[in-house]
Amino acid sequence: MKRTRIAAIDVGTTKVCTVMGDIDEKNNARILGVGVAPSQGLTKGMVVNINEARESIRESVRRAERTAGYKLESACVGITGRHISSVNNKGAVAISRTDRLVRPEDLKRVLEVARSVEIPNDQKVLHVIPRAYTVDGQDGVKNPVGMHGFRLDVETHVITAAATSIQNLTKCIRGIGIEIDDLILEPLAAAEAVLEPEERLDGVMLADIGGSTTDIAVFKDNSVCFTSILPIGGYQISKDISIGLGLSFEAAEELKKKFGNVTPWHGKEPEEDKPITYGQHSISSHDLSEIIRARVEELVRLIVMELPEKDYAHFIPSGLVLTGGGANLGGLAELAHDIVRFPVRIGIPPNLPGVSDVLCDPAYATSVGLMLWRTRNSGAQSQQAKGGIRGIFSPVLRLFR
Ligand SMILES: Nc1ncnc2c1ncn2[C@@H]1O[C@H](COP(=O)(O)OP(=O)(O)OP(=O)(O)O)[C@@H](O)[C@H]1O
Ligand SMILES: [Mg+2]
Repeated sequence: MKRTRIAAIDVGTTKVCTVMGDIDEKNNARILGVGVAPSQGLTKGMVVNINEARESIRESVRRAERTAGYKLESACVGITGRHISSVNNKGAVAISRTDRLVRPEDLKRVLEVARSVEIPNDQKVLHVIPRAYTVDGQDGVKNPVGMHGFRLDVETHVITAAATSIQNLTKCIRGIGIEIDDLILEPLAAAEAVLEPEERLDGVMLADIGGSTTDIAVFKDNSVCFTSILPIGGYQISKDISIGLGLSFEAAEELKKKFGNVTPWHGKEPEEDKPITYGQHSISSHDLSEIIRARVEELVRLIVMELPEKDYAHFIPSGLVLTGGGANLGGLAELAHDIVRFPVRIGIPPNLPGVSDVLCDPAYATSVGLMLWRTRNSGAQSQQAKGGIRGIFSPVLRLFR
């Protein structure tokens, strides 16, 4: 069976992850190489030092190429940061041909209209995602191709990004000789990896807690209706531990990953609170837990405050799915559930065939999602015809070619 090579690069604030693999004719993905390198030159998801960022990406690509045994030529790349904005917009066109049949060209035309939102000069459109179509007043149509009508309307979710941030990121990737197949908003990629189709249909909120950003996407009726990027992540938790316990940031980070747990007393009696020995330090696990807990409670509240509708039970019956490296924190789902009082679960990416064991960790939701994105969204044109979240239109790259 014919196989097509695909690849993804997730340029995060703490790590750069490159995944190489291929898909067969039925779009089944296989992982052939994974390369992870510590990230440098990024702050809050954005490139702030091109040389440093490029070298981190180069190292991660080199590691992935070594396992895969071939050279990486092009990849889907994730983008995030405070510079991302999104808005829901509408567009309409007339179907003027005599047969009044809606064709794929009409979808393209109506998306082009819906794309022309008022955006500041320094922003570029990243995605125009069709949410639902209306044909002659009949709404909620997922795929209007083949229907007859005089007028076609579309509701879209338009995501924009700062032109300079796009330019800096593309410069780093192209600087090491890699072409970008698509630039994808990171929470949309993460959603591909960790959300179930029923959750997207019923309504669900996804929060990817990374090193220094928490990326949010809300899905309803099978399409994305809200996206937002919070400038807080695991970094702030480690910073609090470092200040609270008088440790270096590196020590705080290590302590958090090894012993961090937000369950009070970890289910034990207070007198069982055994101190943690770290170098010459002796740390109360209760104190550690309390420091982490305070910041995590704040983060969970901020995540939920982002929700555009407050009737949670109605809006997101499938609740909240937490992913990203920060979602590895012990007791997180339980604590979040106590705060929000609706279902909360941790999203772990699926185990794909090949060398993907290392990827079965919430920290790799975006990387795996970028790979799956290609399998589920290949060919923007055909995808628009399919509609919904699968119908992605990413014209921004052409502007930077
Ligand atoms: N076991 C763990 N317990 C608690 N936190 C953890 C654990 N493992 C990783 N983290 C935290 O996860 C964060 C990194 O997550 P991730 O790898 O998803 O970030 P990133 O994608 O590089 O960053 P961003 O998405 O913000 O650009 C770090 O703050 C790290 O401390
Ligand atoms: Mg990330």
